[in-house]
Amino acid sequence: MTTSTASAPARSDDRVRIAVLASGTGSNFRNLVECSRAGGLAGGEVVCLVSDRPDCGAARWADDQGIASWRATHKSLGGRDAWEAQAVGYLREQRIDLIVLAGYMRVVGAALLLPWEGRMINIHPSLLPAFPGLHAPAQALAAGVSETGVTVHFVDSGMDTGPILAQRSVPVFPSDSLTTLTARIHEVEHALLPSVVGQLCARYQHSVNESI
Ligand code: GRF
Repeated sequence: MTTSTASAPARSDDRVRIAVLASGTGSNFRNLVECSRAGGLAGGEVVCLVSDRPDCGAARWADDQGIASWRATHKSLGGRDAWEAQAVGYLREQRIDLIVLAGYMRVVGAALLLPWEGRMINIHPSLLPAFPGLHAPAQALAAGVSETGVTVHFVDSGMDTGPILAQRSVPVFPSDSLTTLTARIHEVEHALLPSVVGQLCARYQHSVNESI
């Protein structure tokens, strides 16, 4: 397990404290941090990263940037329930108001979901309910559709099934490869996710100024 406390929690009353859960390259995490630093999240502030892949791109970037993080594999802690129990402890210490799943490729269990239910969102690279689960851009290409997209939704106990907050469509061209389609989807994700997070922060700002 790796814990970096580079930025200690220093809550000010008008900030919505955001944690990002990511296991991949972290382009959405990075983009959200950059929006947060530029003041583009309506008072929201990305304060930490949590990851089940301690050496993923998102984690390495957090280290480079001095962003606090908590990282451990499920295996090293004895499985998902133990991992989630420890992650919840860290997220409580960080006084997190809103959790953003951005490339966290697992179903969230009750231990982690219940404390943040209604304050945990996920970004998914399709127009849900189409193409849930892993490899959504590849699923879209295999299905031969001319349009796919991006969805931001609240997390529930299912796989990509929670109430939808926002969707944007993305065209699929006959000439597309997985690389070109994924790049087009990412571009839309990098606009949509900060916009939804900002709207939630504006909504939460006056109502969640107490730690959970
Ligand atoms: C994104 O496409 C997101 O929708 C999905 O996982 C991918 C993460 O990409 N849940 P990145 O690591 O943020 O670049």
